[in-house]
Amino acid sequence: MKILEPYSLLTHNTFRMDVSCRRFVEIERPEDVLQLPEEDIEAPFYVLGMGSNTLFTRNYEGTILHPVFQGITTVAEDDLSVSLKVAAGVEWEMLIDYCAEKQYYGLENLTGIPGLVGSAPVQNIGAYGVEVKDSITAVEGFLLPNKEPFLLHHDECDFGYRTSIFKTKLKGYCFITHVTFKLSKEAHYTMTYKGLTDELSNSGLTPSIDNIVRCVRFIREHKLPNIQEVGCAGSFFKNPIVPMSEFALLQQHFPDLVSYPASNGVKLAAGQLIEKAGWKGYRCGDAGIYPKQALVVVNYGNARPEEIVQLYENVIRDVYNIFHITLQPEVNIV
Ligand code: EPU
Repeated sequence: MKILEPYSLLTHNTFRMDVSCRRFVEIERPEDVLQLPEEDIEAPFYVLGMGSNTLFTRNYEGTILHPVFQGITTVAEDDLSVSLKVAAGVEWEMLIDYCAEKQYYGLENLTGIPGLVGSAPVQNIGAYGVEVKDSITAVEGFLLPNKEPFLLHHDECDFGYRTSIFKTKLKGYCFITHVTFKLSKEAHYTMTYKGLTDELSNSGLTPSIDNIVRCVRFIREHKLPNIQEVGCAGSFFKNPIVPMSEFALLQQHFPDLVSYPASNGVKLAAGQLIEKAGWKGYRCGDAGIYPKQALVVVNYGNARPEEIVQLYENVIRDVYNIFHITLQPEVNIV
């Protein structure tokens, strides 16, 4: 393992917050976790992948654990499917490219999501009709601070919309080392997102892994900021789920509200609520709300953490005042 102290996190968070941490530990092999000094895991620690779903609001006074180990291993295979055990340090897009090359179906709609494989199950990443939980069969790692290995099967991970056991009960108590995915070797597509089916047919393309990857990347490029150019962490808020009765009342005042069925009510589009509250395209200094997708809070350059916090709190306040809905951040606020 490599220990750096103190260490700037500027290039380790896609929001580009200029903060530092007391210690930054690069975990070069899963077994490094067993060697971690007690002081690193008994005091607060934070596992950081690519920093693409985290807003640091201040310098971090504990230890950051950052997996860098690599590896994609086939652990089971038959004519219909393949199981891949993937190391936490593998870049998500590298796994997408690997699956596209091998023609393994299941993850293609999730192309373009910044981050590392180890982070994918934590918030159950999802886009264009697919959630990563649909392909995950197991998650392995170490429980901390006692360094006991764990192996959780799909049903034990408590997956939900942008959540899992790793974001709830085990938050702050585990380090994920590997995720196992079961993927199909037979053509099998999820084409439930209208924007994707429209894009495919408008481009005259038939469904294939390569064409889906191409279309999803195109849609993302047009709606979401390029993290090389603009600081952000993707969707800043979760789409809120409201009871059916509340939705019916809201519809009387806002008949054009976008809604999706959810198991415990109706899911609304937070981006639309933020847009209706007048925040879309707002900018103050370098902090803003992305003009093409109001769900994304952006740092155009040198926004300070407190400016981003002020902005998102104001958005929550205004959305509440209009719709009586409290938006919940999707990003981890540290
Ligand atoms: N909308 C607006 N105004 C906006 C943004 C959206 O009216 O400024 C409306 C759209 O017109 C559409 C609806 O809201 O009718 C939903 O918009 P979109 O399809 O862009 O998706 P989203 O619900 O805003 C979610 C995910 C995204 C994912 C897309 C596509 C969450 C929190 N976000 O966004 O995930 O890419 O669906 O599946 O669920 C991420 O998590 O970082 C992320 C980008």
